[in-house]
Amino acid sequence: MTKTILRALAGEALPTPPIWMMRQAGRYLPEYRATRAEAGDFLSLCYNPELAAEVTLQPIRRYGFDAAILFADILLLPQALGADLWFVTGEGPRLSTITAQRDFDALKGVDAIHDTLNPIYETVRILKRELPAETTLIGFAGAPWTVATYMIAGRGTPDQGPAHALKAENRALFSALIDRITEGTIEYLSRQIDAGAEVVKLFDSWAGSLKGQDFDDFALAPAKRIIAALKARHPDTPVIAFPREAGERYVGFAKATGADCVALDNSVSADWAAQNVQVDGCVQGNLASSHMVTGGQALVDETRAIVNAFRGGPHIFNLGHGITPDADPENVALMIETVRSA
Ligand code: CP3
Repeated sequence: MTKTILRALAGEALPTPPIWMMRQAGRYLPEYRATRAEAGDFLSLCYNPELAAEVTLQPIRRYGFDAAILFADILLLPQALGADLWFVTGEGPRLSTITAQRDFDALKGVDAIHDTLNPIYETVRILKRELPAETTLIGFAGAPWTVATYMIAGRGTPDQGPAHALKAENRALFSALIDRITEGTIEYLSRQIDAGAEVVKLFDSWAGSLKGQDFDDFALAPAKRIIAALKARHPDTPVIAFPREAGERYVGFAKATGADCVALDNSVSADWAAQNVQVDGCVQGNLASSHMVTGGQALVDETRAIVNAFRGGPHIFNLGHGITPDADPENVALMIETVRSA
């Protein structure tokens, strides 16, 4: 029997949507916090295949999600390309910055990335062995624009200002960086698929700050190039694209990029997305992650409304963004129970 997520990705409208959750392995779970403490810190956890596989499996054991997402981070690729990377507790990631040609010239070529990323492929191989037969394994990478925003600024930014500034001031350098990340992403995802990932997802968390032609050039075009290259090598592996906060640009995104599914954030209504996005194929989403903190009848009502809005077509239930550390694990169970009984 084909796994439910793969059926939805192939375009089938299922009576009950399959479900998984962004950041399902994370700090809201006590067992995750314990394993992270054992690893020492977040990056040591990412690069420890046994422990990274363990935290990937924790939410599957606890909740029986229909998919597991590889435990890693979108910023491992920049690190593999030669950027310095560290995490400041309570604040987030820090990287060496790219502001001038010499910073770009110091980066490594794409062939070198596997030296750093080999442990990630090993995590995928372990998961392939240990996951229940009905659970789909999802690999992922950051989309080039989102990864570039971190590489340029050296940290997360509210408005991606430094990346927009480099794009305006030195288009050639900015485009060269986008191309390097694009090529690295193709090789990284291709190796994840070789190791056993059955689906891959491209996270473009900051796509919403690209407007007009910039959206075409730096959200759409790199996704299209990555998906075309992956499809040439792995024609049967579905790709989920997540151009977060793309708004009206969600319309036609799957067709324009070749993605098998578009993941929706919760700033778009499910009814609107059913009419304007799901008409082209599978959608994923889009419950506000705040419901995992607040719970109650509002969680139940909103979960049912989303399931009903997407009932006529292929749909994978998920949050609109990652679950936050202050979420209550009981609310996750309530969401799953509501989806499966809706
Ligand atoms: O979804 C999953 O469970 C799979 C693992 C995963 C992580 N990060 C683990 C993680 C995935 C798919 C990501 C993607 C990611 N990482 C994105 C794109 C999705 C999004 O959230 O917009 C981005 C922008 C990053 C970069 C990143 N990693 C930031 C900005 C932070 C700090 C913010 C925070 O939540 O602390 C991280 C750290 C991170 N990545 C954690 C986890 C579980 C928390 C680290 C910890 O345990 O201390």
